[in-house]
This record gives sequence, structure tokens and C-alpha cells, in this order.
Amino acid sequence: PATPLIDRFGRQITYLRLSVTDRCDLRCVYCMKARPEFLPKADLLSLEELTMLCDAFIARGVTKIRLTGGEPLVRKDVITLIETLGTRIGRAGLNELCLTTNATQLPRFADRLAAAGIRRLNISLDTLEPQVYRQLTRGGDVANALAGIAAAKAAGLKVKINAVAMAGVNEAYLPDLIGWAHGDGHDVSLIEVMPIGEIGADRSQQFLSLQDVRTRLSAKWSLTDLPDNTGGPARYVRVEETGGRIGFISPLSGNFCDSCNRVRVTCTGELYTCLGKSGRIDLRHALRHGGPAALDRALEEAMAEKPKGHDFDVSPGAAAAVDRDMARTGG
Ligand code: GTP
Ligand code: 5AD
Ligand code: SF4
Repeated sequence: PATPLIDRFGRQITYLRLSVTDRCDLRCVYCMKARPEFLPKADLLSLEELTMLCDAFIARGVTKIRLTGGEPLVRKDVITLIETLGTRIGRAGLNELCLTTNATQLPRFADRLAAAGIRRLNISLDTLEPQVYRQLTRGGDVANALAGIAAAKAAGLKVKINAVAMAGVNEAYLPDLIGWAHGDGHDVSLIEVMPIGEIGADRSQQFLSLQDVRTRLSAKWSLTDLPDNTGGPARYVRVEETGGRIGFISPLSGNFCDSCNRVRVTCTGELYTCLGKSGRIDLRHALRHGGPAALDRALEEAMAEKPKGHDFDVSPGAAAAVDRDMARTGG
């Protein structure tokens, strides 16, 4: 078998996060500017190129692929890509194909996603309050997201809710969101806002430490720490009263870089070696002009360059850690 992807710090890359588009039907305030400029479609990797790329990663030991965006389901024909990648599950080492989505397109796609072999969806939903959702997403209707979640459930897909904790915005409504999600059968991951992309707002105003959130949640519920064995950034607790789980993704207040197992690739084929750094490798050139050997060399180069970790800073006046938008790397 081909050699695994191992970086200078001995971390093996088994997880690929692939953004298939930078476009989105929402405009979340922590993610984009009010009027983002989207990439010209000609810059995007084709579905065939995306498939070749995934196959190259699978051949080098990647066992989990997550499609992200932007919103992956707004890319035309993305379902064809998902159906093709679905045929790799269980073969050649791919164990899991997942999607991070805002759920608005799920009423149309949930059944086909399930048929393609997707079992789990991570759904971004920061609040159930219609006004707050509208403000956070700059115009979205929470009813669309809820309809999408219902469609996913009906299709037999397991749903996890992702909520970015925003100071003074959805802060007060997080217990309601968690209570609802657990009642509907979904775990929730809370995420600290990260200083990624120039969004035309002060991150220090948005930032809310999840340590504080946890303290407040413990006044309402009994939280029991669960063993840390997911390999991901979330640290989980069980809520004894609801039986559901809450994950805390705290890159600022609790760094998890030592066990990082992932790289990200944008829809134009740039491999980012770390979410919190600007270092990148151009895979598109290798794909289009180099062939399989060039692609393998580019992956080796990425392993040699992957940094030890991020150095996020959300103190007042601090610059964004990286200026690329979150929508280009999908979180
Ligand atoms: P699971 O498969 O459910 O473990 O999902 P996941 O946490 O890998 O994926 P998801 O897309 O739900 O990620 C949730 C959020 O966690 C992302 O949007 C990021 O904000 C954050 N996150 C994920 N991976 C990393 C990472 O490597 N570094 C940092 N700093 N944040 C990450
Ligand atoms: N900080 C933290 N999370 C973010 N997301 C988007 N932008 C940011 C940010 N600046 C999250 C979304 C979604 C995931 C894909 O990324 O809410 O859950
Ligand atoms: Fe890995 Fe970078 Fe994320 Fe840290 S910030 S966990 S090194 S991708």
C-alpha cells in the first residue's frame, strides 16, 4: 500500500475536509462580509478533479472525507460528486463520507444523500429564535433550516448541530437550542468564534469563551465529562437531565492542535495545512499539469510544511489570523 501522510510532528492525516464551493445561500456575520465577492466558477475544480483528488488522499490513508463550503449543497451537480464518492465507502480504506451543511437544501437532497451512503450530517444552526437567526445569517429563515433537519431525520441521517457561540447575540438562547436538539435526538457542538477572514467586524466583540458558557450551563444541568476519544477538536459532556451530549470546540481557550489529524482543501485546490495559518500548497496545478506523481509530491510538501498549531488572537485590535474567508476552507 502507498505510504501514509505523516507530518513532522508525527501526526497522521486521516481526515480530509474538502470545500466544494465558496458560495452560500446565507451570509453568517462571523463567516462573511455583508457583500462577499465569490470566486469565478472557472477557478473551481471540476467534479472529476475533485474525485481524483479524493482518490489520491484515500490512496494515502485518508479514511474520512467531509465536504464543506460555503454551503456544499448549493454547488450545481454536487450530488453527482457525492454519489461517486459514495462508491468509495468501505472500499480502498474510506470509512466515512460526511457533510457540513446549513440544512436549507436538505428537503430536496436528504434522501439522495442517504442513498449515496452518507450517514451523518453536521448542521450549522446557531439559534432557534427567528429574529436572532435572521440577524446572524443576514436574512435567513430558521424555518428552512428546521425543515431541512426534519428531512434529514426522516431520511435516517444522524444529525449533529453546530452552533458558534456569539457574545450578546445567540448567547442567551444556547440553553434553548441545546434543550430542543437533545429532545429531537441530536448532539450539539458549541464553537468558539475564530479570527478567520476579514469580516468587517471586531472579533473581540463577537468572542465568547466556552469556559464561561460551560459554567452557566452547569448551573442549569448536571454535566459529566466523557472520555476524549473522538480524535476531533470537540470535548464532550453528557447532560444527565436530557441524555444528550454537548461538544465544546474551544480553539482559543483550550488548544487541541497536538492531535490534529486533518488538512483542508479549498474548491480551487489549495491545500491549507492548518485552519489558523495561511500556509498553503497548490494542488490544482499538480492535478491539471502534473499527474499522479506530482500530486503525491505536493502532498509530501504539505506534510513537510504543516505547522505545529495556530496562534489565534481575539484580543481587541488584533488582526485576523488569516485573511482568507472561512467560506473558502469550510471551518
Ligand atoms: P465530527 O466529524 O463530527 O468530529 O466533525 P468535525 O468537528 O470535524 O466537523 P465540523 O465541520 O462539524 O467542525 C465544526 C467546527 O469545528 C468547524 O467549523 C471549525 O470551526 C472547528 N474545527 C474543526 N476542525 C478544526 C481544526 O482542526 N482546528 C480548529 N481550530 N477548528 C476546527
Ligand atoms: N469561527 C468559528 N466557526 C466558524 N464557522 C464559520 N465561520 C466561523 C468562525 N469565524 C463555522 C460555521 C459552521 C462551520 C462550517 O464553520 O458555523 O458550523
Ligand atoms: Fe490542526 Fe491547525 Fe486546527 Fe490546530 S488549528 S487543530 S494545527 S488545523
